[in-house]
Amino acid sequence: MTQGAMSARQADGDADVLAEARRRRTFAVISHPDAGKSTLTEALALHASAISQAGAVHGKAGRRGVTSDWMAMERDRGISVTSATLRFSYRDAVLNLLDTPGHADFSEDTYRVLEAVDCAIMLLDSAKGLETQTLKLFEVCRARRIPVITFVNKWDRPGREPLELLDEIEQRIRLRPTPVNWPVGIAGDFRGLIERSTGAFTAFTRTPGGAGPAAEERLTAARAAQRAGQAYQVATEELALLDEIGSTVDLSSFLAGDSSPVLFGAALPNFGVRRLLDALRELAPAPALRLDAAGQPRPLHAPFSGLVFKVQANMNQAHRDRVAFVRVCSGRFERGMVLTHAATGRPFATKYAQAMFGQDRQTLDVAYPGDVIGLVNATALRPGDTLYDQVPVEFPPIPSFTPEHFAVARCKDSGKHKQFRKGISQLDTEGVIQVLSSELRGDQAPVLAAVGPLQFDVAVNRLEAEYGVRAALEHLDYTIARRTDAAGAGVLARERGAEVLTRRLDGTLLALFTDRWKLAVTKRDHPDLRLEALLADAE
Ligand code: G4P
Repeated sequence: MTQGAMSARQADGDADVLAEARRRRTFAVISHPDAGKSTLTEALALHASAISQAGAVHGKAGRRGVTSDWMAMERDRGISVTSATLRFSYRDAVLNLLDTPGHADFSEDTYRVLEAVDCAIMLLDSAKGLETQTLKLFEVCRARRIPVITFVNKWDRPGREPLELLDEIEQRIRLRPTPVNWPVGIAGDFRGLIERSTGAFTAFTRTPGGAGPAAEERLTAARAAQRAGQAYQVATEELALLDEIGSTVDLSSFLAGDSSPVLFGAALPNFGVRRLLDALRELAPAPALRLDAAGQPRPLHAPFSGLVFKVQANMNQAHRDRVAFVRVCSGRFERGMVLTHAATGRPFATKYAQAMFGQDRQTLDVAYPGDVIGLVNATALRPGDTLYDQVPVEFPPIPSFTPEHFAVARCKDSGKHKQFRKGISQLDTEGVIQVLSSELRGDQAPVLAAVGPLQFDVAVNRLEAEYGVRAALEHLDYTIARRTDAAGAGVLARERGAEVLTRRLDGTLLALFTDRWKLAVTKRDHPDLRLEALLADAE
């Protein structure tokens, strides 16, 4: 091939990557348990025709028939421990929804997923507004400057006033809410949605059982006023108020993380879900170039590069495998490529690349920026690792998140201390749990630290299944961790209700406190002490 033909082919390839990247929307749903994340996930996929019936993605207790069987633990509890990735197309867009565990025991994995998305949907229960886990996850979005679209769910049942919910968002998290649409009828007496930009009104009719998309009917303002009467009048007055205060959707402040487009609806009967998909398509950012660890940009059309954001062991008990989830950051991925693992410089074969769809796997042949690849048997890969083709690159490491649960681990099988130590250290590097230690506590009794207590169960299970050691955990009373220094460690050594431990992986000194009160008293008594919040602390 001539030089000219080669560069023409290269230009075609670059254009292909850029065009495909522009179609991608890679996002996660952040919410508190029970706000309706599983229901919304199913409703989104249903509207996008990725699955034929709601309930096929991942069930929870009561929808057991479709519960994932990745881990026995998961089966026993009827919960989804692992993050599934869903990909579906909607009109001309390709949507990648990175799911996060949807139960109270969330973990560092939940946070890490946010390293791989370009946008988040903040899902609120209309009766509850902002709840603790939503706040924590939102803080990670803010730290990473991830744009957030808000969906106020469950409008089909009694809830709070829409203006009051907007006010809460503005006051508590300093995010300017800008409604895309507005509900007619109070929560529980829902009549339909007014599209703010056009004034068009959409009424919804529930399908029996809520298993299919709700029928939508568009009405003119005059017909809507006739049909919804007083409720329509109230909604238009509220809209006038929003116009007055200038609360309109603004793309640049949304992308900067300062404002949030707000949509109303109900995931269960599928009200307003299609509009949410359109909002993702119209407003959410497509994948953008990523900066490497040295702050240099990796253009989207550069040769392939990807970030490992999660490693899941034992996804298939029968095969004892380990899947690394990789977010494509640049270039075109083709199965069979031999990539380089930036951390070790070793080649990495991708013969077994897969797309994860709920609990189903499909072989994945091609992927573009924004897509997620599952690499099976990727024993060498850790969260935060980079894989690349041709031109070397290494992305910044994924930060460790603030643990809130602490337990001392001890080996119950005498004579197996070596396996115990090896297993603990492996789980630490994999990011399953954080391992803390101190001279005082010694090597035999490391302190395991977790963002959610479920991480302990996963650690204990894996120690037994993979290293043949049974571990006993003794829970500690601490609930708060702050970064400190040697001087802080000296002062806190004399305090009760506090302790300083070293995080093994990066040497960070963590000061642990029993509660906020103890932390506040320590700060008051020692105003010069270094006690810094870590990432994802919603204070
Ligand atoms: P999660 O993943 O965020 O934890 O929440 P999930 O979707 O499981 O929803 C929690 C509960 O809220 C479920 O009821 C679900 O049916 C209900 N729900 C979700 N969205 C809506 C909505 O728009 N309207 C109404 N009325 N309810 C909604 P459940 O009784 O706990 O479970 P299930 O037996 O219905 O599955």
